Amino acid sequence: MTKQLRRPKARVVGTWSALLAGVAAAAAMTTVMAGSAVAATTLGASAAERGGRYFGAAVAANKLSESAYTTILNREFNSVTPENEMKLDATEPNQNQFNYANADRIVQHARSQGMQVRGHTLAWHSQQPGWMQNMSGTALRNAMLNHVTQVATHFRGQVVAWDVVNEAFADGSSGARRDSNLQRTGNDWIEAAFRAARAADPGAKLCYNDYNTDDWTHAKTQAVYRMVQDFKQRGVPIDCVGLQSHLNNQSPYPSNYRTTLSSFAALGVDVQITELDIEGANATWYRNVVNDCLAVSRCTGITVWGIRDSDSWRASQTPLLFNSSGQKKPAYDAVLQALNNGVTPTTGPTTGNPTTPPPVTTPPPVTTPPPGGGGCTATVSLNSWTGGFVATVRVTAGSSGTSGWRVTMTLPSGATITNAWNTTRSANSGTVNFTNVSYNGNIAAGQSTEFGFQGTGVGTGMTPTCTAT
Ligand code: G3I
Repeated sequence: MTKQLRRPKARVVGTWSALLAGVAAAAAMTTVMAGSAVAATTLGASAAERGGRYFGAAVAANKLSESAYTTILNREFNSVTPENEMKLDATEPNQNQFNYANADRIVQHARSQGMQVRGHTLAWHSQQPGWMQNMSGTALRNAMLNHVTQVATHFRGQVVAWDVVNEAFADGSSGARRDSNLQRTGNDWIEAAFRAARAADPGAKLCYNDYNTDDWTHAKTQAVYRMVQDFKQRGVPIDCVGLQSHLNNQSPYPSNYRTTLSSFAALGVDVQITELDIEGANATWYRNVVNDCLAVSRCTGITVWGIRDSDSWRASQTPLLFNSSGQKKPAYDAVLQALNNGVTPTTGPTTGNPTTPPPVTTPPPVTTPPPGGGGCTATVSLNSWTGGFVATVRVTAGSSGTSGWRVTMTLPSGATITNAWNTTRSANSGTVNFTNVSYNGNIAAGQSTEFGFQGTGVGTGMTPTCTAT
């Protein structure tokens, strides 16, 4: 039987350089530990020994004064995510009036304990302040970008990773974006948010975060995968994908969970399990989740969504690792044991190893010949799934710039447009002219704009031609 020794907590701190130092220290410790076969006694310390991973918890500022709460937090976890305090309604209750008091309390607490902080979340359709809920169009887009910039700047150097955008895809089989006021500002709102976050805090890892993206076969998982793949191909700054992993009888632990983790990792992003809780705290599912994360080197950490069952947003499901009295549950033992027995993964940039073939990759963009001087060019990229697709069309002005443009494309037989954004279209099938709308006709020389449309059927094989008007 493994001898349990109390050992110093392996901590990571909230600055990027210190984090790297912490990871290096943890990696060194891993080597020693492998030889001596001594098991760590807390979740954070054990995770740190598994390739410098973290084990975190969602934390509420108003509970930091409760000693029963902080005793467990400080002992067990080396990462925190503010549960509500960094959200839009908390940090910008009135437009351009920022309130960081509660978020700062959590960050200070984390720093005092040498824990890292995950930021949650900069752009989300939910928990928007009232003033933002009533906005639309360019005003909303600008307000969202301002929010991202201000908040990411305030926490620069203190947040290791940000959930830049949260829950932007629809549930069900459509694989489409979720309709929201943000989505209606244009399909490029997500990448715009990521670019603003990178500019504000170049040291933070930038994540896309969502739920019901655990099962590799689900349309939503596939849609997020295609977006991340597209972002990586086009150089949109994205570093990580967060799987919330709220598991219950309706969304059970999927046997292909490891495939999901490794497939995202193979795109060249980290994967983080960001809001784990499991109905009834099923110990087998908890153990499986930990083992799956440990098997994928780019799965860099796990956060549980609360500490005790009484702290959970789903308290009646008793989904956490500690009961309401703060005692460890069988799921806790399963998690710690899995962490302690985990094999140390080989390190490397992209060692994720899908066990099923990755989905059909997006074909390279089809490009019209560059205009010899004025004019414009257009490329189309597709996110396809069975029965539908989203086409994103990039219009680039030639050396004279444009004051208006028209892109003509013939849709494949059987394909029908169901909605479009940032453009006006002449038809829904056959040969379609897409023309600029009021705000995107003027493109400076060499600059680009994007429009998009969603369709049913198969969208492959479209060749756009662009005319400056
Ligand atoms: O703080 C007020 C309190 O003053 C008031 O008396 C009380 C009355 O209802 O509400 C309190 O605010 C609640 C807040 O949690 C703090 O407890 C809000 O009503 C309630 O809506 C809010 O719920 C949060 C939920 O997000 C909102 O969408 C949960 O705590 C939080 O755990 C949950 O977290 C989300 C992640 O951000 C994203 N993924 C899903 C996850 C679960 O929904």
